[in-house]
Amino acid sequence: MEKLKRAVKEIAYAQDQARLSKLHLSLIPFLSFASSLYGVVLSLRHALYRSGFFSKHRLPVPVISVGNLTWGGNGKTPMVEFVAKFLADYGISPLILTRGYAGGDEAKMLQRHLLGGPVKVGVGVNRMATANLFFEKYGYVDCRGSKFSEKTYLDQKMESHISSEKIGAAILDDGMQHWSLCRDLEIVMINGLMPWGNHKLLPLGPLREPLTALKRADVAVVHHADLVLEQKLKDIELVIQEIKESLPIFYTRMAPSYFSEVRNISIKVHLGAVHNAVVLCVSAIGSADAFVQVMEKIGPIYVDRFDFSDHHSFQIKDIHMMRERLRQLEDRFGCQPIVIVTEKDYDRDREILKHLHPFQVLVLCSEMQIISHKGCNEDTFKLLLKELLEE
Ligand SMILES: *[C@@H]1O[C@H](CO)[C@@H](O)[C@H](O)[C@H]1NC(C)=O
Ligand SMILES: *[C@@H]1O[C@H](CO)[C@@H](O)[C@H](O)[C@H]1NC(C)=O
Repeated sequence: MEKLKRAVKEIAYAQDQARLSKLHLSLIPFLSFASSLYGVVLSLRHALYRSGFFSKHRLPVPVISVGNLTWGGNGKTPMVEFVAKFLADYGISPLILTRGYAGGDEAKMLQRHLLGGPVKVGVGVNRMATANLFFEKYGYVDCRGSKFSEKTYLDQKMESHISSEKIGAAILDDGMQHWSLCRDLEIVMINGLMPWGNHKLLPLGPLREPLTALKRADVAVVHHADLVLEQKLKDIELVIQEIKESLPIFYTRMAPSYFSEVRNISIKVHLGAVHNAVVLCVSAIGSADAFVQVMEKIGPIYVDRFDFSDHHSFQIKDIHMMRERLRQLEDRFGCQPIVIVTEKDYDRDREILKHLHPFQVLVLCSEMQIISHKGCNEDTFKLLLKELLEE
């Protein structure tokens, strides 16, 4: 299964189909057929929503959707967290509505980061039902309009400590294809390292929707922009602008902050701790390349990698394979290698990686940052959110 998943991904992101292996080529007709079928279902679904056959629901608070057009690794979860923190700083208690994928790693990570604050995380496939449960439990306030302006910002903040229970906005995690809920702002995340693969629909390509879906977006965000060549960023911008010229485009990156110990996540370790070490990057995330590149920049003497498919939950046999690799590294370099995982990997299963003892296992903790470019920066991004809320 792991092999098949990898093959499908390789096809979707292949630069040149002629260079694919026999196995890959044999899969293509099947994938093409499935891809066309998927396209038909998609248009049908879209048409049904447009004609009003499927009804759209409106929540009583502003809704910000953070979505993606392609497979993971596009910074969706960090963006959800960024928006949630912005709202919380603003004195608004946001409700994050997330579907909760295999293992719920992303939801667990959000909950761990936002613990103790006014942000609530609702996990469930039916986001409307989840939202209603939370509204019943905590109540809600519609912060749009006069009540929310710069002048009253501080008062609002003071007051919010008292009334922070009431939900003032909703953030739809992976909301792009979730058409049944109306949204006030649509943020689309794009992985700068592999923006659209072969431009084909799933499963032949990585696209969940044709690129023209960008028309529905209010903001496009190119994630991992710091790891992408200038020319490639320009190409991405051209594609976006061809579809929607007025779409504001922001660049983001993951900035590593520190490591945490897997055996006790409250122990923080300085990034410099790996400077003279050999590290093995182990991950089951959407964009392992970005993770490995960030680790290389931190500057260990040698970086090895072990990639699994997105959301894969590590099994004991995987742990054995990792140990095997670690022993090889130890023989080769004469020092004990350190295992580095991402937060998502840690949160998927907080126990299994402890089985790598006595090898040290560290979690790379990072924070999303908006990179300033062409007048688009953190301030203008926040302004955009503010305008939405003040409408
Ligand atoms: C978006 O990201 C989620 C979570 O990583 C993933 O499961 C889903 O397939 C992605 N959707 C898109 C649009 O690819
Ligand atoms: C984890 O580390 C923290 C901070 O160093 C410490 O206070 C706590 O007791 C540790 N927890 C466990 C279970 O060892």
